[in-house]
Amino acid sequence: MTRRSVIRGTGHYLPENVVENSWFESRLDTSDEWIRSRTGIERRHFAADGQTTSDLAIRAARAALDRAGMTPADIDGIILATSTPDFTFPAVATMVQSGLGMSRGFAYDVQAVCAGFVFALANADAMIRAGLGDRVLVIGAETFSRIMDWTDRGTCVLFGDGAGAVVLEAQEGAGTSDDRGILSCDLNSDGTHRELLYVDGGVSSTGTAGQLRMQGNLVFRHAVEKLAKTAHTALDKAGLTGSDVDWLVPHQANMRIITATAQKMGLPLDKVVLTVADHGNTSAASIPLALSVADGRGQFKPGQVLVTEAIGGGLSWGSVVLRW
Ligand code: UT7
Repeated sequence: MTRRSVIRGTGHYLPENVVENSWFESRLDTSDEWIRSRTGIERRHFAADGQTTSDLAIRAARAALDRAGMTPADIDGIILATSTPDFTFPAVATMVQSGLGMSRGFAYDVQAVCAGFVFALANADAMIRAGLGDRVLVIGAETFSRIMDWTDRGTCVLFGDGAGAVVLEAQEGAGTSDDRGILSCDLNSDGTHRELLYVDGGVSSTGTAGQLRMQGNLVFRHAVEKLAKTAHTALDKAGLTGSDVDWLVPHQANMRIITATAQKMGLPLDKVVLTVADHGNTSAASIPLALSVADGRGQFKPGQVLVTEAIGGGLSWGSVVLRW
């Protein structure tokens, strides 16, 4: 028998303020047409003044617990992926814990930028397999609007705010690819590419939060090369192939990257969960947001194979394969 981590519930929260592409037209030398055609993004949500990453995360966590039919008392730990924490410390996860009225179990943050949720999911799976908890809340939550340079048209039109969460629960499986739950993970980082995507401030360097800097076209090339590869590696580890995949749930950064990855995996677009048009790039929140939106629509059927993949600053990239 093998201990598996099964998704019992998903949830998400998006701030009320929806900003259409046209909002940028009066502020920058850009156009709705450019943003749509180069990225697939049509709108994004921005957090209100005073609304923090933990506020979004708590709402997403409550929604996931509701769908799972669980209460905070059922949860043994919280792992939260973010690059935009409320404070330098404590971890946003501990703020979610207290917001949910919990004072037991572990709670900590994972920082792998846009790949953060994939890393957090793999981390939670490892914790569950190691017997460190039976039920773990895994959250991706971001307020990237706080680290935008609003004069840089190459980045500020791309990102949005939001949070998504899943409840993982331990379940015994046979140890085969027919098991429900997480079947395999593939995680990678290469710090030599730091200059491609980073924030130009921080606690021990500038003492400021800093702003996001990106050489978008170079990140684009890495994404197209690395995402299908990591997905194939994870599928291989699970003993599955592209033809076994029912749903690709990709990081929602750019429609052209998503299309190229799906093509490389031999998947038609109707097997790809797409939220990029309405959410923009919400970094670590994008995959759990997409999972929750698709789950809410009833798109996933028990037994179906899902593949998630993401790449972001670091560079860090990876993939998780699971059976719904
Ligand atoms: O989630 C973390 C990982 N991040 C990503 O996956 C993002 C990856 N990169 C991308 O999605 C794309 O590279 C972008 C959407 C950021 C840019 O698209 P691109 O097709 O790679 O464009 P580019 O950077 O090569 O720029 C082409 C042109 C440039 O003008 P010139 O030099 O050709 O005159 C840019 O200045 O487009 C210009 N441009 C814009 N024009 C209008 C850049 N941003 C804009 C804009 N509006 N917002």
